[in-house]
Amino acid sequence: MNPIVLIVDDEKPTRDGLRAALDERFDVYVAADAKEARQVLNSEPVDVLLTDLRLGANSGMDLLDEALTLSKPPVSIMMTAYGSVDTAVEAMRRGAWHFVTKPLNLEEVELLLTRAARGRNIESENRRLSSENRELKKKARSPSAGLERLIGKSESMARIAELVEQVAPTRATILIEGESGTGKELVAHAIHDLSGRPADKLVVVNCAALSPQLLESELFGHERGAFTGATQRRIGRFEQADGGTLFLDEIGEIDAATQVKLLRALSERTFERVGSSKTIGVDVRLLAATNRRLREMVTAGEFREDLFFRLNVVTITVPPLRNRAEDVVLLANAFLREFAEENGRPFKPLSDDALALLRSYSWPGNVRELRTTIEHGVVMSNQDRIEIHHLPAFFGQGEPSPADSGPDLDSTGEKDLAPTGEFNLHALEIHAIRSALRHTTGNRTKAAELLGISRRTLQRKLKDLPSPSDPS
Ligand SMILES: Nc1ncnc2c1ncn2[C@@H]1O[C@H](COP(=O)(O)OP(=O)(O)OP(=O)(O)O)[C@@H](O)[C@H]1O
Ligand SMILES: [Mg+2]
Repeated sequence: MNPIVLIVDDEKPTRDGLRAALDERFDVYVAADAKEARQVLNSEPVDVLLTDLRLGANSGMDLLDEALTLSKPPVSIMMTAYGSVDTAVEAMRRGAWHFVTKPLNLEEVELLLTRAARGRNIESENRRLSSENRELKKKARSPSAGLERLIGKSESMARIAELVEQVAPTRATILIEGESGTGKELVAHAIHDLSGRPADKLVVVNCAALSPQLLESELFGHERGAFTGATQRRIGRFEQADGGTLFLDEIGEIDAATQVKLLRALSERTFERVGSSKTIGVDVRLLAATNRRLREMVTAGEFREDLFFRLNVVTITVPPLRNRAEDVVLLANAFLREFAEENGRPFKPLSDDALALLRSYSWPGNVRELRTTIEHGVVMSNQDRIEIHHLPAFFGQGEPSPADSGPDLDSTGEKDLAPTGEFNLHALEIHAIRSALRHTTGNRTKAAELLGISRRTLQRKLKDLPSPSDPS
C-alpha cells in the first residue's frame, strides 16, 4: 500500500505537477483550498500533508494547526515562496516537520516525502516531532544562555540575536557568513545552545583542516579496510551528531566529491560509511559557516548550486566590526575584564585616546583582532590606564598607508572583504596621528610637533576621530 499524500495548493499547475511527479509511489489527493483539504483530512488516513503556506484568506498555518489536532496527525511539510522563510520557521515551531521553498524542486519534494513516509511509524514519529518542536519552543523562550557570550548592542547584532532565537529551535539548516574573526563560531554555538538539542551534542568539523579523503571519512566514517590505513571501523561525525547538531566550519573548502555526498546526506538524511553499503539514517541539525562568498563560488563553478541552496535555507550574515563601531567599546570592556582576571591584574580602563583610536580603526581581523589587541594592552600597561603606546606595534596593519599600492578591486568593482579608505584623506590623517603617537610612545606634545599642529588641535582631532561606518 502506498503512503497517502494530501497536496494543498491554490495554483492548479503546482497541484498537477506534484501529482504527476508523485502518483506512482504515493496515493495522491489534491485540494485547492483549506475547505477541500479539511474534507480529505477528515475522511482519509493522510500520512503526509504537503501544503502551501499561503492559501488565500485561510492560511496554510491554520490548516496545519487543525491537522495536528487529528487523532492520527499527518507529517506536515510546508511549501513557501523563496524569501518568506520567516513564516516557514514559524510553521516548524508550531509542529510542521519540514518546509520546502518554491519554485519546487520535484526531486527534492519526492525525497522528502519518501523520507517522511518510509519505514516509520508515521503517527508516533510525528507526534514525537511535534511535541518535541513545542518543547523546544518553550525552552527557546526562556532566558537565552546561548546568547550571553555574543556581545554587541549594535542594530545588526541585535538583529542577529533575534534571528538566532527564532531559528534555533527548528531543524532548519543555517549558513553563517562573515569575514574572518567576526564571531561566526560563536553564533553557531548560540544556535546549538538554544536548539533544545542535548548540550553536549554539538559536533564541530573544520572542513579546511582535512584532505578530501580524510574529510569524507571524518564526516561519514569508514569500515575496517576501506582504504589503506583504515585498520579499524570508525564512526563518522554525522553519526556522532545523531540527535544533536553538526557544525561544518569553513564549508567553502570542501572538495567536489564530498559536496555530492554532503548534498545527499542533507537531502535524505542518510549516508553510507566509506567502504560499506549499509545505509545509515540520522537526525542531525546542520550548521555551516564560511568566510568566503559562497554565492560567488557557485557562479565560478567552485561550489555546487544545489548544495548551496540546501545550506542556504536561512543565512545569518555577521557584519564586520568596522560597520558596528558602537560594539567596539562594549567588546573592548568585556575583553579588558576577561584578561585582567586571567592575568590576575586589577581592571584598568582604556584612556580616551586609546578608545578613540580603537573606535576609528578598520579592524581587518574583526573581533578576534580586537581581542588580541586588548590582551596585549592589558599585559603591557604599567600605568593605571591603557594608553595608545601599550597597544601592539602591529596594530595599524591593514590601515591606509601612503606607500600602499592602489586599492585592489574585484570583478564587481567592489572591494572584496577588505577595509576601505586607501585614498580617504581622513583615514590618512588618522594614520599619521597614530604613527606620530606611536613614535613618541604616546607623548601628545611631541606627537603634535611631529605632525606640525598644535597640541590642542591634536587633542581635538583625537576626539573627533570618525567612526569607520561613517559614509564619509
Ligand atoms: N560578539 C562577540 N562577543 C564576544 N566575543 C566575540 C564576539 N564575536 C567574536 N568574538 C570572539 O572573537 C574571536 C573570534 O570569533 P570566532 O572564532 O567566532 O570568529 P569566526 O567568524 O569563526 O572566524 P574565522 O572565520 O576566522 O573562523 C573569538 O575569541 C570569539 O570569542
Ligand atoms: Mg570560525
